[in-house]
Amino acid sequence: MKIAFVGKGGSGKTTLSSLFIRSLASQRVPVTAVDADINQHLGAALGLDEEAAASLPPLGAHLPLIKDHLRGTNPRITSAASMIKTTPPGSGSRLLRLEGTNPVFDACARDVDLVSAADGESEGRVRLLATGPFTESDLGVACYHSKTGAVELCLNHLVDGRDAYVVVDMTAGSDSFASGMFTRFDMTFLVAEPTRKGVSVYRQYRDYARDFDVRLRVIGNKVQGPEDLEFLRAEIGEDLLVTFGNSPWVRAMERGGARPFRELEQENLLALKTVHEAADAAYAQRDWERYTQQMVHFHLRNAASWGNERTGVDLAAQVDPGFVLREDAPAG
Ligand SMILES: Nc1ncnc2c1ncn2[C@@H]1O[C@H](COP(=O)(O)OP(=O)(O)OP(=O)(O)O)[C@@H](O)[C@H]1O
Ligand SMILES: [Mg+2]
Repeated sequence: MKIAFVGKGGSGKTTLSSLFIRSLASQRVPVTAVDADINQHLGAALGLDEEAAASLPPLGAHLPLIKDHLRGTNPRITSAASMIKTTPPGSGSRLLRLEGTNPVFDACARDVDLVSAADGESEGRVRLLATGPFTESDLGVACYHSKTGAVELCLNHLVDGRDAYVVVDMTAGSDSFASGMFTRFDMTFLVAEPTRKGVSVYRQYRDYARDFDVRLRVIGNKVQGPEDLEFLRAEIGEDLLVTFGNSPWVRAMERGGARPFRELEQENLLALKTVHEAADAAYAQRDWERYTQQMVHFHLRNAASWGNERTGVDLAAQVDPGFVLREDAPAG
């Protein structure tokens, strides 16, 4: 299952995605966490110290390896250089699976053992990937896109079932709409504070998402009382899934005094259960054909708007018309 957390800067994307990841890990559900946000904080939110977080291998720096692996022997993709972030898999491509290892995870993923702050007991394990930090000069230019592009390529080549999770912490910025990234998830959770700005980011996302069958639910965050809740209900309606209050557990972690996961406030544990159920329920709406068609749609759009010119190749020819990504596809 592929799950995204999006929202306005500072709304709590990293906090809530890390809590969801911890909750899956504590139940021994296999989970792969991807930090694709401009502000790379997911590692820290999962308990990595600064040095460990900074030494995560950046996906963005491994693009040549990723492209070379994924294109496999696909005759329509003649070189890694002609592979752009939206290049879809076809016959001969290598697909990624969450179970086991592959050269992409070997190079870019790190296993993080979560341990209870109280007694050192295991709270599960997470496979963590990070796009790498975005520098000032990345914003708005090609290499910024190429960093999230690595994630998009991997998602487009991933055949995942219902028993393992990929959780991506990303921005709600217009960057995810320029490519097809926002259509790659079984469920998108938009984190919104009870403010006009929080709600306006939701509306913008919903309007983009509407035409692409993107399943979107809102998680209210930092909800302090009945007026906050009323505001979110009135503004968001039935897309509002659940709300989180201000969490002393999260505050303690921010102060460096992490507590065991099981000591997270009861109401927030219950909210996480609702989030998990909503994510699980999205499986029934999976449609691999639509998923494949959408990647082709965005590929053709990117090819025409900049890709053909950049690579000097007719990128539309990379599309394998008979190919549909599916769960039981051979891994290649
Ligand atoms: N439910 C909560 N209870 C207490 N503190 C919270 C809660 N949610 C978020 N915070 C705090 O709010 C701040 C912003 O949260 P977070 O970093 O998760 O937001 P973000 O959306 O990922 O931000 P950015 O856009 O910078 O990546 C952090 O200091 C975090 O600890
Ligand atoms: Mg963040």
